[in-house]
Amino acid sequence: MYQTGTSSALYERVRHVIPPIEWPVFEDDIDTILRLKRQRNAIILAHNYQTPEIFNCVADITGDSLALAREAMKAEADVIVLAGVHFMAETAKLLNPSRTVLIPDTDAGCSLAESITPADVRLMRQRYPGVPVVTYVNTSAGVKAESDICCTSGNAKQVVESLGVPEVIMIPDEYLARNIAAQTNIKIIAWAGHCEVHERFTPADIRSFRDSHPGVVVLAHPECPPEVVAEADFAGSTAAMSAYVDSHRPSRVVLLTECSMSDNVAVRHPTIEFVRPCNLCPHMKRITLGNIRSALEEMRNEITIPEAVAVPARRAVERMLAVKG
Ligand code: 13P
Ligand code: SF4
Repeated sequence: MYQTGTSSALYERVRHVIPPIEWPVFEDDIDTILRLKRQRNAIILAHNYQTPEIFNCVADITGDSLALAREAMKAEADVIVLAGVHFMAETAKLLNPSRTVLIPDTDAGCSLAESITPADVRLMRQRYPGVPVVTYVNTSAGVKAESDICCTSGNAKQVVESLGVPEVIMIPDEYLARNIAAQTNIKIIAWAGHCEVHERFTPADIRSFRDSHPGVVVLAHPECPPEVVAEADFAGSTAAMSAYVDSHRPSRVVLLTECSMSDNVAVRHPTIEFVRPCNLCPHMKRITLGNIRSALEEMRNEITIPEAVAVPARRAVERMLAVKG
């Protein structure tokens, strides 16, 4: 879906999650961004954790990390603005190097990406010679360049099983690694990185939601600790959680993930009650209509990746995209 129209028509879409009193604050930026996109032949790719006015009113393509990577690779626009965090913009640049990729705020990082360096990966390889390295996309291009293959939360099990080996190193998310280990016979050697948003959920939280909201269906992201995933009704990537709500239509649901996700799914399901434990990702929240607008106005914050890093990093990401499932 390519986003066009005027801001007042777009309000209809988000009226359930953005109060009318807040809307005028967004209108001028939305109209300007829609105009700049046409002028620059630009598209905006937005992750599921972006705020509703970005996700629903200026984004052309939305989704989880895997969908955004696939869409970035196919994009024909001259400019791709990545409304998400830095590793997502780097992944878009790796997969479509001839396009100009902009990130509205270069400080939009990720605690997982910060948890590991290329030198750490080389040390892991020395410690476990011959064991392939599966790297979560939530990492820098430098770390991807040291890896055999990437994965996302949407395809991690398929990627691990595609290698046909008894043992893999899976970095940097310890909880994702342990959650995947619980679903496969392949031995998984993990790193100790954590997502600062998902590590905060606890099994006690789930019990308290179930007590206070009888019948609530609990969906968890696989970056949550394994004890949390074990007590949830379903675990999956942000796209899988969204699809679960679309297909099961629970009357009450809680999404154990970033706050904006509930708003964005609620836009499609105004009659479902979303219980909202609000854990914000401070990195995702650095992206605003204001800095999307200035990125497009000034063509600033372009992603560049040195060729020596881009070539091996691209190989690891493309190898992931070739895995079926
Ligand atoms: P998804 O790939 O499931 O969208 O997750 C990305 C992310 O950053 C989760 O915290
Ligand atoms: Fe990184 Fe967690 Fe934020 Fe996702 S939610 S970008 S994993 S810190």
